[in-house]
Amino acid sequence: MDGRGLVRSVGIFGTVQGLRAARSAWRQRRTDARALPARGAERARVPGPVSGAEPLPGGGIVRFARSELRIRVAVGGAVFWGWDGAEPEPSYALDGTPPEPDPRAELEPDKNGGWRVVSERVRVEVSRHGAVEIRTPGGVVLRRDLPPRWWEPVRGGPARWVQRTEVPADARFFGLGGRASGPRLRDGTYRLWNTDPRGSFGPDDDPLYITMPVQLVVADAGTHLAFHDNSWDGRVTLREGEEGEGSGHDRPGTSEVRMDGGPLRCWVVVGTPARVLRGWTQLTGAPALPPSWALGPQHARWGFGSEREVRRIVAGYRERELPLSAVHLDIDHYDAHQVFTVDRERFPDLPGMAKDLRDDGVRLVSIVDPAVKAEPGTAVYDSGAAADAFVRDGRGREVRGVVWPGECVYPDFTDPRAREWWGGLYEERLAQGFSGVWHDMNEPVSFTPFGDMTLPRSARHALEGRGGDHREAHNVYGLAMARAGHEGLRRLRPEERPFLFSRSGWAGMQRYGGTWSGDVTTGWPGLRASLSLVLGLGLCGVPYSGPDVGGFDGSPSPELYLRWFQLGAQLPLFRTHAAIDAGRREPWEFGPEVLAHARAALAERERLRPYFVTLAHLARLTGAPYARPMWWGCPEDRALRDCEDAFLLGDALLVAPVLEGGTDRRAVRLPRGRWYDTATGQAYDGPGQVLVDAPLSRIPVLARGGSVIPVRGADGGMELEVWAPAAGRTGGGLVVPDMGDGWERAEVERYRTRLVDGRVVVKQIKGDGSAPPRWRVRVRGLGAAA
Ligand code: NOJ
Repeated sequence: MDGRGLVRSVGIFGTVQGLRAARSAWRQRRTDARALPARGAERARVPGPVSGAEPLPGGGIVRFARSELRIRVAVGGAVFWGWDGAEPEPSYALDGTPPEPDPRAELEPDKNGGWRVVSERVRVEVSRHGAVEIRTPGGVVLRRDLPPRWWEPVRGGPARWVQRTEVPADARFFGLGGRASGPRLRDGTYRLWNTDPRGSFGPDDDPLYITMPVQLVVADAGTHLAFHDNSWDGRVTLREGEEGEGSGHDRPGTSEVRMDGGPLRCWVVVGTPARVLRGWTQLTGAPALPPSWALGPQHARWGFGSEREVRRIVAGYRERELPLSAVHLDIDHYDAHQVFTVDRERFPDLPGMAKDLRDDGVRLVSIVDPAVKAEPGTAVYDSGAAADAFVRDGRGREVRGVVWPGECVYPDFTDPRAREWWGGLYEERLAQGFSGVWHDMNEPVSFTPFGDMTLPRSARHALEGRGGDHREAHNVYGLAMARAGHEGLRRLRPEERPFLFSRSGWAGMQRYGGTWSGDVTTGWPGLRASLSLVLGLGLCGVPYSGPDVGGFDGSPSPELYLRWFQLGAQLPLFRTHAAIDAGRREPWEFGPEVLAHARAALAERERLRPYFVTLAHLARLTGAPYARPMWWGCPEDRALRDCEDAFLLGDALLVAPVLEGGTDRRAVRLPRGRWYDTATGQAYDGPGQVLVDAPLSRIPVLARGGSVIPVRGADGGMELEVWAPAAGRTGGGLVVPDMGDGWERAEVERYRTRLVDGRVVVKQIKGDGSAPPRWRVRVRGLGAAA
C-alpha cells in the first residue's frame, strides 16, 4: 500500500473505516501472495490432429493428439461441447440435470477427415484440427470456433485458455451480462469478473456487478447464443466484421474468450431470438415470477432514516393520490449497519409500520447485504460461526473484509449448509413485516482503496463439496446468495412467491429473481446506460430489472428526472432510488409540471399492469424478456440491429424513450408492419423511420396493428385494448390473467384479431375452435390512415 492509497481510502470511507479498508487490502495482498504463487513457466498446447472418434448418444467423442472433444446435441437442439473431458456438470448455470441427448443426432465422419453431428435444428462440424462449426440445418455457418489453445503451468495449477471464434461479417454482439455501453457490444475487451465500480457508473464503466460468459449473436444467417460455462476470471474481446461490399472478401467478426482457468466447454442455442431465449431458459431455468405487486411502482432511498420519514413519504404519495406498491428500506434501518437487525431508536415498531403500510396497499422491501459483522456475541455472527458458514483462507482462518458495519466475515453461499443457515435468517425479515428482499454488495464487496474490492483470490470455498477458491467462486457468489434467499423464503412462506432481486449474479440467476441497475450515474449518459443494462440482461435470460429512476447520485434536473421516470414506468422493475447524499426522488419534489407528467406516467403504468402481469408470465413460460431489443421479431433487419434508443415491450408495444435534453420530437425506427402512436392515434407503416412528437408530458409509445393488450379499465376491471389490424392483415396476442401472489397456475388465453368489413373482430382461440373474448374489448386505431 502506498501513501496515496491510504489517503484515498480515508477520504472515501472516513478515518476509521478508511484505515480498516487499507489494512484489509494489504492483508488480502499478503494472503494471496502466499497462497497463490506466480504461475511461473507455462507450456502451450493445442489439440493437434484428429486421431479417432467414438459415437455416443447425441454425438460422441472426437479424439485429437493432445485433447479430446465431447459433443452432444440435446433434445430441443442445444449443443454442448467440451474439451479435455469437460462435461456439462457440475455447473452453477444449469437448472438441474442437463437435457437428454437427442437420440437422432449421430456422429459421422465427413469427407475432409473431420466429424459432424447432424440434427434437426443444427449441424455441428469438427475439423481435423479441432475447429468447431455451428451451422444451420441448411449448412449456413453461424459460428466457427477455432482450435483452442491452453497454457499449463509447468509446476502444475489451472490452465489458462483462449478460444477464438469467427462469426459472419454482418453479425452484432449482445449480452455478456449487464453492460452499460450497449446493448450492442462495440469492439473492445469486456472483463468477466463481477465488480462494484466504486461509486456510480456511466456507459464507459466496465465491468459492472453482473458479468456472464453469454453472447447473443445476431446475423443475417441466424441468431445464436453461446455460453462458455466457466465462472473464472476472463476477458472477451469482440470485433465486429466488415463486409467486402460485393467483393466477396468479408472480414468475419471475431470473439476471443480468454479464461484464467476452469473448463473449456460451451453451450450453443440457435434459432429465432424467441427460440434462443426459450432454449436458454430451458437450460438455465425459468425466470422466477415476481409477485403481482412487484410490477407496480416502488420507491426507495438510502437514508429515509426513520419510521417517521417513511410514513411521511408514503403519506405524500397517498395525499397526492399517486399509486405506490412498495417502499424499500436501505442499510440505514439496520442497527449499526448490521444485516438482520433493526435500529430500534429510529424504527421502534417496524412490524406495526409494515402493517399500516400494507393496509394502504404498500409493501415493505428490505435490503440484505451478505457481509456479517465479525463480532462474537451478536446473533448472526454466532449462529453463522456455529454453522461453520463463513469463508476461510487456506490456513483455516475466517477471511475478513470491510463493509458498512466495519470488519466483516462472508457466508460461503457455495456451501449448501451455509445456504440453509442463511435462508433461515429471513424469518427475522418476515417477522419485521417485510414482503421482499433486495440483495446488495454481493459481488461480494470488501472496501479497499485500490485493486479489487472483493475477497482474496485464495479464499477457500466449498463449491458444493468439490472445494476450490475465490477465483472460481467469485462470479457465482451473488447467484448462490440469491439461491439461499429464494429457497429460504420458499421454506418460510411457502404460500407466496418470493420477491427477490440482486445486484450481482451470474448465468441462471433468473431462477431466483431479478436485478437492478446498481449505482447508475445521474445524467443523460446514465439514463442511456440504464436502458442498455435492462436490454442486455434480458438477452442473458434475466428479464426482471430496472434502473434507479433519477440516477443514484446527485440531483437530476426536473427534465432528466421526468424522462427517467417515463422510461422507468415502461420497465419491469419501476423504482425510484438514490444515495444517502443525493437529492430527493419523490415525484412532487420537481415542481408541479413534473408532478403532473409523472402522475400520468404512473397512471399509465397502472393501466398497463395486466399487460405487465402477462409479460411476467410469458417470461417465465418462454424466457422472452418483457423489454426486448428492436430486432427481436426481425433480426434480419440490419437497421434494427443497430437501433439502441428504443425497445419493444412485449409483442404489442414499442417504447421510444427520450434520452437527451431539450427534445420534443424524436426519430423512431419501426419494424415492419402497422404501428399506431398510442397518444395521437396516428398510424405508420414500417419498416422505416418516422418522426414523432415527444412533448415533456410523455414519451412516444407505439402499438402494433392487430395487437391485443390487457389493460385495467376505468372501473378497475380488465379489458382488452385492441389495435386495428391493417387492411388485409390479422393480428392477435396472448393474455395471462393475474392469479395473485401464490402459486396457482395461470391459463394463457390466445386471441386473434381480423378486419371484417371495416370492423375489428376479436376471437379467443380455444383448441380448434374460437369463442367471444372473456373480457370487454375496446378497439382503437380504426379508420386511422398511415
Ligand atoms: C449500494 C447499492 O447499489 C445502493 O443501491 C445502496 O443504496 C447502497 N449500496 C447502500 O446500501
